[in-house]
Amino acid sequence: MIKLGVNVDHIATVRQARMTFEPDPVAGAALADLAGADVITIHLREDRRHIQDRDLEIMRKTVYTKLNLEMALSDEIIDIALKTKPDQVTFVPEKRQEVTTEGGLDVISNKNILPDIVKKFKDAGILVSFFIDPDQGQIAASKDTGAEYVELHTGTYANAGTDAERAPLLEKLATAGKYAEELGIKVNAGHGLTYKNTGALIDSMDIEELHIGHSIISRSIFVGIKEAVREMKELIYQYESLK
Ligand code: PXP
Repeated sequence: MIKLGVNVDHIATVRQARMTFEPDPVAGAALADLAGADVITIHLREDRRHIQDRDLEIMRKTVYTKLNLEMALSDEIIDIALKTKPDQVTFVPEKRQEVTTEGGLDVISNKNILPDIVKKFKDAGILVSFFIDPDQGQIAASKDTGAEYVELHTGTYANAGTDAERAPLLEKLATAGKYAEELGIKVNAGHGLTYKNTGALIDSMDIEELHIGHSIISRSIFVGIKEAVREMKELIYQYESLK
């Protein structure tokens, strides 16, 4: 069964809009957990625009499913992660000006430094994933670092306007996923996924974990986070059981 990772960053985005105490992403993570989320994801950005250090510290003690920390290749955040010990880290590229993570991480260009970093996390008992574009070179380079997972960037697929544009992008993701599986690396996927476009992705390829944030948190404003998570779990179940 495909696992659902719920990214609760945007609860913190609302809190930080007023620099106050509510809504608390820690409470959101607990409710998402109760509703069946298999993974809780947070991104501790260098600029701390949404998730704060305190959120990570408390969630490390209160999240009983898998806690996945998205992070940049930053010495400061690496130190924090190694001390806090989330269950999994997903390395992402990070730019201060971006609204959200834009492209995938360039693992090929960083291949000299990554094996040592991956080893530190593995030695600490933390799983490592790289958020990359669906590109065979990046997948092979990720495998060479010793990482257990790649997360394929679905943003280009999610942003496509028509079925004709979406078809080759789905094929590209599926081909990349197969290649990763052949290399023995687990395949996660995420970015820009919604209640409308996730089904076709599930139809097209095998996925270990789906990582979804903005769409679930947006829906939760109207239906509540437990219902929003349950609906996405149900959608995944429906599509997967028809395969
Ligand atoms: N996966 C990664 C690596 C991300 O950086 C993000 C955004 O924080 C997501 C998944 C979730 O993207 P979205 O909020 O568009 O669902």
